[in-house]
Amino acid sequence: MAHHNGSSDGTSRVFRGMFIHATQKEAVQVLQDALLGVNAEGKIAFIGEGKELDKLSETFGFSPSAVIQLEQHEFFMPGMVDTHIHASQYSYAGTALDMPLLDWLNKYTFPVELRFKDLTFAQSVYTQVVRRTLRNGTTTACYFATIHTDSSLLLGHIANDLGQRALVGKVCMDQNNLVNYYKETLEESLAETRRFISQLLAKKYALVKPVVTPRFVPTCSEALMGQLGQLAKNNNLHIQSHISENVEEVKIVKELFPDHDSYTHVYHQHNLLTNKTVMAHGCYLSDEELALFRETGASLSHCPNSNISLCSGMLDVRKVLKHKVKLGLGTDVAGGYSACMLDAVRRAMDTSKILTIQDTEHETLTFEEAFRLATLGGSQALSLDDQIGNFEVGKDFDALRVNVAVPGGPIDMIQLEKPKIILEKFLNLGDDRNIVEVYVAGRKVVPLPD
Ligand code: GUN
Ligand code: FE
Repeated sequence: MAHHNGSSDGTSRVFRGMFIHATQKEAVQVLQDALLGVNAEGKIAFIGEGKELDKLSETFGFSPSAVIQLEQHEFFMPGMVDTHIHASQYSYAGTALDMPLLDWLNKYTFPVELRFKDLTFAQSVYTQVVRRTLRNGTTTACYFATIHTDSSLLLGHIANDLGQRALVGKVCMDQNNLVNYYKETLEESLAETRRFISQLLAKKYALVKPVVTPRFVPTCSEALMGQLGQLAKNNNLHIQSHISENVEEVKIVKELFPDHDSYTHVYHQHNLLTNKTVMAHGCYLSDEELALFRETGASLSHCPNSNISLCSGMLDVRKVLKHKVKLGLGTDVAGGYSACMLDAVRRAMDTSKILTIQDTEHETLTFEEAFRLATLGGSQALSLDDQIGNFEVGKDFDALRVNVAVPGGPIDMIQLEKPKIILEKFLNLGDDRNIVEVYVAGRKVVPLPD
């Protein structure tokens, strides 16, 4: 199979039409009748106004007749960043949501993850999850696989082949108080993680990188956490895990580490909080813990569907933002039942509105802010905001071509609407039928190959 390192179709493209993205200053910035050029490396070469066509075509050497013109109801937005998704759990997504986290792990999750020893099963599930998330507009995914090195490597191969930007983690867990059949020894976990990292890096995939993945404190020994922290540091790698998702879990961590100040301090003392760390959930973090996130540059992944589906808790996004902790959205499949980031946007809004119902003083998240979290926020949470997250010259062109009024689609356009209203309609009512094309690093990856 061909390895796609960068834009395989090699062509540079110029688009003309409406572009909507988030910046640090503006949660939603609309560029009407813009011209955006993508170079052969898949990077944004220029952004200008439609009326500058003649000048830009001269400067950048393209023919005005080659410009791709968006239709009236179309716009481009940055690809969405799923900062937390369990690729292996896609096999039972949409089911098994009838118990809290620790029982759920025991009853459903561990038996399923065990099956990924079988590469044929892994190939089937991983192909489907990458295809599905790409169609849903996830241009970057931060994946948990399972404890199995070879099938985790296979996930990286599949993401690269289909053209998705991905961080892929072989899961590490050397203790399991719940079941005895799904865990590794300390030595295995470390040796296999080293093998996973070196073999994945050796592939030299342009868009797929390894991420050090201790599952969470209750399944990891101190020795494992400490050495994984060291490994990540020595190799400048990303780190991902879970934190403070559910009350029972927080209680267990307190019992395991009675002398540590908090759950966050346990990770911190094992060198696992860096500016390339992303921790899922964080529903029960104290102000002191959030301050430690801010200090270390570690980020949070808000997984609202999962938080509600497993009755785990509710993250107060406003509080996190006030602490200036980097924050993205995650689907957390299959604790979250949807593999679609549009669902994460909607559930993030719902959660914020529930907090407002409970406390009318709560400053509800706006749809503009939710849009930013799904795109720029996610890129920041994964420390990839120098490469992706919005339409800035020099960044990779990771983008969705959205047609809100696609024939046979879920949205009726009753009248001509302003750009922000069009975006709001798409975020609340849209689905993959509206996402007519997806680009990652300039390569068109949706429509999918057969
Ligand atoms: N905490 C530890 N493992 C998991 C998992 O697989 N899913 C969720 N939601 N939380 C976890
Ligand atoms: Fe998770």
